[in-house]
Amino acid sequence: MTILQAIKWAKIELNKSCERPLFEAQLLLAYHLDCERIYLHTHENKAVENIQAYQKLIQRRANHEPFEYIVGKADFYDISLKVTSGVLIPRPETELLIDHVAKIIEQKNIKQIAEIGIGSGAISIVLARKFPHLQIIATDICDTPLEVSQENIKSYRVESQIVVRKSNLINAVSEPIELVVSNPPYIANDFPLESNVVDYEPREALFGGNRGDELLKQIIDDVKAKNIRYLACEMGYDQKDSIEAYLNQIEIKYLRFYTDLAGFDRGFVVEF
Ligand SMILES: C[S@@+](CC[C@H](N)C(=O)[O-])C[C@H]1O[C@@H](n2cnc3c(N)ncnc32)[C@H](O)[C@@H]1O
Repeated sequence: MTILQAIKWAKIELNKSCERPLFEAQLLLAYHLDCERIYLHTHENKAVENIQAYQKLIQRRANHEPFEYIVGKADFYDISLKVTSGVLIPRPETELLIDHVAKIIEQKNIKQIAEIGIGSGAISIVLARKFPHLQIIATDICDTPLEVSQENIKSYRVESQIVVRKSNLINAVSEPIELVVSNPPYIANDFPLESNVVDYEPREALFGGNRGDELLKQIIDDVKAKNIRYLACEMGYDQKDSIEAYLNQIEIKYLRFYTDLAGFDRGFVVEF
C-alpha cells in the first residue's frame, strides 16, 4: 500500500470515531514512519513499511482510544509530556489555571507551593519552568501518575524544584506552603462521559464523588486547616454556585471565579 492509499483507507476507518479523520490518519502515519507530515505529501507513491503496524494504530484510534495514549505524549502549554494509560491527558483549559496561579506567584513573590493531583506533571512542570526559584511539593494518590510525572520532571530537568509525594490530598505535606494549586477529579460519578474518556482515562482522575465537588470541598477544608493563604482550583462548569456557597460559610478574604475561553465557569482563586 502506498502512502496515499494508506491515508485514504485510514480516513474511512476513522470516520466514525474522529472529528478530523484525514488529519489524524496523517498524524498517525507520520508517527508510524517517524517523519514530518509534509513528507507524506511529497512521497505519496512510496510504499508504507510495516503497514500492519500502522493498521493496528488506526484500529486503536477507531476504537476511540485517545490519540495521545497511542503516540504516548501530549502537548500542553509550552511542553510535550509523556502520557500513559493511568495518567490523565492534560487539557487545554488547565492552561488557564496556570495563568491565574502565575499572576499570584508573581505579584506576591511566592516561593513555596503545593500541587494536589500531579497527573502527568503538567501544572507543576510549567510553573517550575516559569519560575526558576519556585519550590513545589506535588502529591498524587495513584502510583502511575507518581511514576510518569517523575519521568517528565527529569526530562525537563526541574528535579531540583519539584518533590513528588504519594499522599491523599495534602495530608503528607507538613512544610510551610503559601499556595495550593489543583485540578482535582470533579466530575459526578454518574455523569455520562464519552467513550474515549471513560473507557481509557483513569477513574481516579475523573470522578470526584456523587455530586462531583466533594474532593474540591475537602481541598478547601484542608488548605484552610493548614493555614495556607492561597488556593487555586479548576472545577466543573456547573459547580460555581455550590463552591461559592461553601466558601462563603467560612472566613475568606477574597474570592474570584474565572471562565474558560468558551465562557463556562471553570475555576476559582481564593485567599483565606
Ligand atoms: C484531573 S487529574 C489532574 C492531573 C494533572 N494535574 C492535570 O491537570 O493534567 C487529577 C489527579 O488527582 C489525582 N488524585 C485523585 N484523588 C486524589 C487524592 N485524594 N489525593 C491526591 N491526588 C488525587 C489523580 O490520580 C489524578 O492524577
